[in-house]
Amino acid sequence: MIELRDAFGRIATDLRISLTDRCSLRCTYCMPAEGLQWLTKTQRLADDEIVRLAKVFVDAGVRSIRLTGGEPLTHPTLVDIVAQLAAFEPRPELSLTTNGIGLAGRAAALVEAGLDRVNVSVDTLDPEKFTALTRRNRLPDVLAGVAAAAAAGLAPVKVNAVLVRDSNLDEAPALLAWALEHGYQMRFIEHMPLDADHTWTREEMVTAEEILRVLASQYDLRPVGHIDHAPAEEFEVFSRDGERLGTTGVIASVTRPFCRECDRLRLTADGQLRTCLFAQTETDLRAPLRDGATDAELTELIATAVAGKQAGHGISSIGFVQPTRTMSAIGG
Ligand code: 5AD
Ligand code: SF4
Repeated sequence: MIELRDAFGRIATDLRISLTDRCSLRCTYCMPAEGLQWLTKTQRLADDEIVRLAKVFVDAGVRSIRLTGGEPLTHPTLVDIVAQLAAFEPRPELSLTTNGIGLAGRAAALVEAGLDRVNVSVDTLDPEKFTALTRRNRLPDVLAGVAAAAAAGLAPVKVNAVLVRDSNLDEAPALLAWALEHGYQMRFIEHMPLDADHTWTREEMVTAEEILRVLASQYDLRPVGHIDHAPAEEFEVFSRDGERLGTTGVIASVTRPFCRECDRLRLTADGQLRTCLFAQTETDLRAPLRDGATDAELTELIATAVAGKQAGHGISSIGFVQPTRTMSAIGG
């Protein structure tokens, strides 16, 4: 059986596919108000190209596929892509990372097509803060999307929040309370240097330690550790009087990197394979694909890229250079 193994013994089994670099929001920590220079239709992989490549990855040992963006729900044929991926043998586990806009209308169809899990970004529950943070007045759509996903059977819905000081950091306990009440799994994420504006600084970023301190003002958190290859550190959440309320997670990619266990690969919307969010190099799969490469030739290209996967992101090393691509153009 083929295995995508790197020089550090890590085996790639998880693929994130960015369907589009476009987004329906303009989160201040991600992209500028005017948006970015979007890929053209010819630059982007067509659906049949995405499905062909995904199959090559699955045949090479990938067992889970996450569809991301930009915002994957802006991709008109998302449901159809899910259905095609669900028809693979072996069937990969299928998940979606979304900002929730448009999810309410499509959650049931996505489940029907074969979607297994969803992560929705909700950085704040305050409509005004939401509008300031995302530059769009869409909080009701997002919350309807989360509720619809749970109702459609995608439970437990995971909810992601990137915490930003002077914006939503103080809301962390309220976000957790809301998630616990509805049975959502809240995960707090450290801001990474992948923003288009290059405004990220180590001094400004909210660390996991700080997030845990803020949550500890209202809850008693007991560490569980990492589950499988997930980057989140899990915690059991207890009330002050000892009642177990549920779980939460913190993704400390910057201050407590999990690179040693990373099993992920990323395919950008223009068909570039990235073996790390912070990689400075990419492997072009689009050109060979369009030039008629065989599955074996594509597999070879992928295996070579994986073999050269870097040990870690190196954010804390002297000489760290932020990649040119932003989070929205890589896929979360
Ligand atoms: N650092 C960390 N997370 C980010 N996201 C977007 N940009 C960044 C960044 N620079 C988050 C989104 C979403 C997920 C796809 O990644 O908020 O939850
Ligand atoms: Fe869009 Fe996600 Fe970036 Fe927000 S963080 S602008 S939802 S891609």
